[in-house]
Amino acid sequence: MKLNIALLAGDGIGPEVIDQAVKVCDAVAKKYGHEIIWTSALTGAAAIDAVGEPYPDATHDICMKADAVLFGAIGHPKYDNDPSAKVRPEQGLLKMRKKLGLFANVRPTFTFPSLIENSPLKRERIEGTNLVFLRELTGGIYFGEKGRRDEGTTAYDNCVYTKAEVIRLARKGFEMAMSRSKKLCCVDKANVLETSRLWRETVQELEKDYPEVTVSYEFVDAVAMRLVQWPNSYDVLITENLFGDILTDEASVISGSMGLMPSASIGEHTSLFEPIHGSYPQATGLDIANPLATVLSAAMMFEDAFGLKEEADAIRNVVDKSLEVGVVTEDLSGSNKAYKTSEVGDWLANNL
Ligand code: IPM
Ligand code: MN
Repeated sequence: MKLNIALLAGDGIGPEVIDQAVKVCDAVAKKYGHEIIWTSALTGAAAIDAVGEPYPDATHDICMKADAVLFGAIGHPKYDNDPSAKVRPEQGLLKMRKKLGLFANVRPTFTFPSLIENSPLKRERIEGTNLVFLRELTGGIYFGEKGRRDEGTTAYDNCVYTKAEVIRLARKGFEMAMSRSKKLCCVDKANVLETSRLWRETVQELEKDYPEVTVSYEFVDAVAMRLVQWPNSYDVLITENLFGDILTDEASVISGSMGLMPSASIGEHTSLFEPIHGSYPQATGLDIANPLATVLSAAMMFEDAFGLKEEADAIRNVVDKSLEVGVVTEDLSGSNKAYKTSEVGDWLANNL
C-alpha cells in the first residue's frame, strides 16, 4: 500500500520524538511491503518564527491531501507568560482541529504489565485499566465567543454546543462501546450547566439506537475522583472539550508516565495522530524525551487510518518488548541505565 503521511513535528521535543516514529514506521513499511511518502510541514512556534502564522495555509493543504497526519507537539515557553502575545503556537493546533473538522479526540489509557510499579497509584487500583476517552474537540468553551469588556477588567469565554455536535460525538462513543465492553459513561456537569443538560438529554435519546450499551451519567467532579480510585471500572467515556482536556491529563499518569499515551483525532477530513504530552521545552534537544507515545500514535495511525491492524500490533509488540527488556528513557529507567530518545527509536526499528 502507498501511505501518504503529513509530518508535523512542531515544537520542543516534537522533532525528536517524531524522528523515532518515522524510523519505526519506515521499518514496519519495509517489513510489510508498504511505501510511505512523508511530507513535512510547519506548525506551532516553529511556523510562527518562519512565516508568522502557527498553522499556515501551505500546511493545511498538505494535511488535506495526506491520508493521515502524524503530529509531534506544540508550544513554546516564550509565549506562556506573555498574555499580550497576538499569535500563539496553540492557536495553530486549534485552527488545525477546526479546519480539518477533527471533532473527536480518542485518548486511550491503559497499563503495561511491566510498568505497573511506575504508576503513582497502587497496583490493585490500576491493574486491568483499559479505558478510552472520546473528547469533543471543535466546540465548547474553546471555540465560543471570548473577549473583554469594562475596559478590560471583565473577561468571558462562552461555552456553546449544538445538538448536532453532541450527536456526532456521542454516536462515535456508542459505536466504540459496541466494539469494546458495551459500557459508556457520559461525563458532564448537568447539575449546573445548560450545555451539559443538552448533552445528557441528547445521549439519553440515542440510547434507544444502541440497546446493548449500558450508559451511565456522571458528573465531571465525581469522575475526576473515581478515575484515580477505580480507573478499571471505566470503559468508554464521552465528554465535552474542556472536561476532556483536564481528565485525559489526569488519566495519562495512571500508566506510569505521560510519555506513553497516544491519541487520535478524527472527523471530517484527514485524521491526526499525536502523543498526548506537550512540547516539554526543558528537554528540547537533549535526546531524553520518551518517544513511545508518538510511536504508539503511529500504531493507532496504521490501524485506524489505514486499516492495517497487523502492522499496528507489530509496533505495539515491539514497544512491549522494549519495556520488558528495559530499553527505556529516563522517565522510566529508575536506577537502571537510561537510554536516549534516539537509541530507543533505533532499538524499536531494529527489533520489529
Ligand atoms: C491538548 C492540549 C491542547 C488543548 C492545547 C495545547 C491547546 O492541552 O491537546 O490536550 O488544550 O487541547
Ligand atoms: Mn491538554
